[in-house]
Amino acid sequence: MQRLSGKNALITGGNSGIGLATAKLFLEHGARLAITGRDAASLEQARIALGGNVLAVRSDAGKLSDIEQLMKQAEGHFGKLDVLFVNAGIAQAAPFEYVTEDAFDEMVAVNIKGIYFTIQKALPLLSAGASVIVTTSITNQMGSPNFSVYGACKAAQRSLVRSLGLELIARGIRINAISPGPISTPMYGRVGLPNEVEEMVKAEIQGKSPIKRFGEPEEVAKAALFLASDDSSYIVGDEIVVDGGISLL
Ligand SMILES: NC(=O)c1ccc[n+]([C@@H]2O[C@H](COP(=O)([O-])OP(=O)(O)OC[C@H]3O[C@@H](n4cnc5c(N)ncnc54)[C@H](OP(=O)(O)O)[C@@H]3O)[C@@H](O)[C@H]2O)c1
Repeated sequence: MQRLSGKNALITGGNSGIGLATAKLFLEHGARLAITGRDAASLEQARIALGGNVLAVRSDAGKLSDIEQLMKQAEGHFGKLDVLFVNAGIAQAAPFEYVTEDAFDEMVAVNIKGIYFTIQKALPLLSAGASVIVTTSITNQMGSPNFSVYGACKAAQRSLVRSLGLELIARGIRINAISPGPISTPMYGRVGLPNEVEEMVKAEIQGKSPIKRFGEPEEVAKAALFLASDDSSYIVGDEIVVDGGISLL
């Protein structure tokens, strides 16, 4: 059964990892789709991999002018949006005393300001009954040494989902979150760790995980599909944890 038949969906950060896996699943379920990313080459690769019939918009989630431009394009293309997956995010690892103002500002710009204004600027396009989904992280409920700014941003996202959940349901718009644990995506290669440290961190996480493996982006995509579809019609301001049990430890 196609669970998003006739729905228009926008996925930020749809050119990689969780966003790309979700884009594939949403298409399989009949959605009309737009994706964003910053990197023009991987955005074009994703557009082609998704079969070409996808609006791919280069847009920096940390820049208000880009967000406004993105929504103009989405409005021109779709008219209305039924699903908004606010998924673009960045993580940079550093011990507390080495976190720079630039790194702090960049993470806050993309992970807090970016998601806030993506939802606000999309609001005029969102249909009654629309579903908004934010990719948070289990770092929003755990202490995360060397990821203090990222964890704080993800906790802020969780708070926003609660507050906006209450504000937007008055218009029939549901907002919920997906909280991934360790998922095999390019993100681990982007946090700024040397290769050998990255491999050590991954092995440590895998050993500690109750399920003894990383999750696949497709496993997160299935939770996104549930929240995007009418199957989750009574779920508001909540968060689905997709982490193999690691946050229970
Ligand atoms: N992987 C995990 O273990 C994990 C765990 C918990 C939460 N998450 C969250 O899951 C989400 C997706 O991450 P992922 O794991 O799929 O990693 P990923 O493969 O690195 O994907 C990140 C996506 O965000 C986009 N992005 C980053 N900064 C952006 C910006 N300023 N403007 C527009 N797009 C931007 C990237 O686009 P470009 O490539 O074009 O920059 C990319 O599409 C993030 O919010 C992340 O925090 C991931």
